[in-house]
Amino acid sequence: MTTLPKYTQTKQTVTLDYPQHPLQLTVVTPAIIRVFENRGDNGQSYAIEGNKEQPTNYTLTDAGDHYELKTSALTLKLDADRHVDAYDANGNALVTDYRGERQLLDKGIDKVHQRLVEAEGHSVTKSTVKSDTGYYEVVKALAPDEHLYGLGDKTGYLDKRGFEYDNWNVDNPAPQLENFPNLYKSIPVMLGLKNGHPYGLFFDNTYKSHFDMGKEDTHYYFYSAVQGNLDYYIIGGQTLKDVVTNYTYLTGRVPLPQKWTLGYQQSRWGYSASQAEVQTIVDGLKKYDLPCDAIHFDVDYMEGYRVFTWDKDKFEGDPKAFVAKLKQNGIKVIPIIDPGVKQDPNYHTYAEGLKQDYFVKTPDNKVYINKVWPGDSAFPDFGRPAVRKWWANNNKFLTDNGVGGVWIDMNEPATFEGNIPDDVVFSDQDTPSTHAKMHNVYGHNMAKATYEGLKSQQGRRPYVITRAAYAGTQKYSTVWTGDNRSIWPHIQMMIPQLCNLGLSGFSFVGTDIGGFASDTNAELLTRWIEAAIFSPLLRNHAAMGTRRQEPWAFGEPTLSIYRKYLKLRYRFIPYLYDLFAQESQTGLPVMRPLVLNYEDDPRTRDLNDEYMVGDDVLVAPVVQKSQTKRLVYLPAGKWIDFWNNREYTGNQDIVADAPLAKLPLFIKKDTLLPWGAPVSHISEEPDTTMTFKLFGNAGTYTHYQDDGLDFNYQNGEFNRYEITVKDGQVAVDLLHHGYDPAYQTITVDLPDSSVTLTYDRASDGYRLK
Ligand code: GLC
Repeated sequence: MTTLPKYTQTKQTVTLDYPQHPLQLTVVTPAIIRVFENRGDNGQSYAIEGNKEQPTNYTLTDAGDHYELKTSALTLKLDADRHVDAYDANGNALVTDYRGERQLLDKGIDKVHQRLVEAEGHSVTKSTVKSDTGYYEVVKALAPDEHLYGLGDKTGYLDKRGFEYDNWNVDNPAPQLENFPNLYKSIPVMLGLKNGHPYGLFFDNTYKSHFDMGKEDTHYYFYSAVQGNLDYYIIGGQTLKDVVTNYTYLTGRVPLPQKWTLGYQQSRWGYSASQAEVQTIVDGLKKYDLPCDAIHFDVDYMEGYRVFTWDKDKFEGDPKAFVAKLKQNGIKVIPIIDPGVKQDPNYHTYAEGLKQDYFVKTPDNKVYINKVWPGDSAFPDFGRPAVRKWWANNNKFLTDNGVGGVWIDMNEPATFEGNIPDDVVFSDQDTPSTHAKMHNVYGHNMAKATYEGLKSQQGRRPYVITRAAYAGTQKYSTVWTGDNRSIWPHIQMMIPQLCNLGLSGFSFVGTDIGGFASDTNAELLTRWIEAAIFSPLLRNHAAMGTRRQEPWAFGEPTLSIYRKYLKLRYRFIPYLYDLFAQESQTGLPVMRPLVLNYEDDPRTRDLNDEYMVGDDVLVAPVVQKSQTKRLVYLPAGKWIDFWNNREYTGNQDIVADAPLAKLPLFIKKDTLLPWGAPVSHISEEPDTTMTFKLFGNAGTYTHYQDDGLDFNYQNGEFNRYEITVKDGQVAVDLLHHGYDPAYQTITVDLPDSSVTLTYDRASDGYRLK
């Protein structure tokens, strides 16, 4: 076809009337354009809430062989063959449709050889083309110099190029290696650097989908989905950071957390089988001088795995009193909740769910039953607002018992007796739909319900930790990466995995420190606490039946090293909290790959064993067994070794000494950082003083303070300080004073001295003591 299609225009949407498949282009913001083809699927987005369309000037011109849709940041060229090509404001190609044919992989092997290969148990790579009605694919050209990031929690490396992945939330206990197609989350956003030019692509379709990132052929990458509408967003920005900010504008940002949630958390499947066991752990933390803020209660605390019950016999008849006692001692309890509701007519939650018709059903209208921990269980239909409300209210049982937050699990949903058939009836809001469509947002909707319950019951910023998620879940919950293993490949995987989650909007993330399945050992546990010490969610968790991995489980020197890093973590909590205050405005992750800060430096583009915390801290952990030195790549600028103040010039690799007790850690020269007090728990009382530490000769730092608990900051109850050190002089500017009390004193540690300033009520400012 050579003639351009007719088009219609309404406000910011242009509809190109291609025969059979009209295409809608909506200018959402100057840097976000939505490409949409209605393929018969109704319903609203789960990732994007509310109308994100901003009044934006754009032009649509007929350029002869194509239309040109242009905003200040993006240009789309749309031709007669339905190609969609996106360029940045300078005309650099970002996302262009691939013009050739796909090179299917299974063309290369005949049936006889295929049987032979499979006889030994190997599998033959199949092309992913499906004939199911509804299947579609979007194939985009891949440049020789193009790097691909994002995709949420997928395994493997920072640069996803050359691998393929599925979007279908699963609980698969097999070891997660780089060829693993999918894990617990489906976050179908990818970010790219094409010839150094950044872009993002977000495919908003909850059905099972697939990303081939140039594995099938190096000339293209593709996204395909088994069903659903073609619905994707082309995201521009001057930098990768802008792309993340734009993407999180669309799908939302991690809200400011309670401050104590940044503290250390101890967990193990089995602790909560008895109060005595929990008490032993809490006593151990105290005895060994290990700061900690929370202990997690796994499934054992319930009565026969019935959610929203608490086995009193295991807690001396009064779990509430025990939870309160722990809280008084600075330790919050985080109980687990699974979606599966035990099929037991005498159990309140089941009986009520049944009566109200809140469970998902088979196509012939019977409650769908599968097995999870409690045996036969029913599954709440979280897509429905009424069910979410019910579930939110159910959390009152936990909040009445004084819990600090809720850990939600098995919400892919996982099942023990086969997969849930695609046609089981799950609701899409109030419309009956299918498991096929609602599966990937099951955890998302459970997280949202839990968030809303905690918010109204506690009046505090909800602390929810979920295993399953979809794009946008970051608004409601933190995430952990599920059941990793105590193996070296999994400490290695943690860095790119958490960094890609961060690029995908999920800033509050963590792994099971020490490894969940398999048996850890002293060296691995030590390196893991070092490597993870800046991961926002800092939790040691292990499976029942594995070797113990509390910080003291291996004696010395593990215990002392573990303690040293936990204490370091608490020093950095004010910095992490500042980064979250910024993140809630910009979407920029706390823990980030170097490429986010230095995208012009090719060395950072697939760096898998270093990460940064904000803009100023570079962490280069040892993630190889028996290694005691490692190469560290330092990007441009000057860097200061945190441990000995030695200065390095960047743009080079250095060999860092890393005996078992040492985490190579570098601070950008001329940086001021807040330096928390040496505490055993994050207090709920206001801090009256704050210290800042200078690395280098000068620096400016903006610091945020509020009560660290509730939503009053949204009414202006927060303080913002600007601390400056220049020519040996220290100044503090109280940029915003809405929270009382402001710090009474502020101390700045300079390389050879320290300066303290005192709050002066009359001038509402700080002056030298
Ligand atoms: C799942 C979770 C794990 C938990 C276990 C028992 O495997 O991922 O963290 O300990 O279930 O509830």
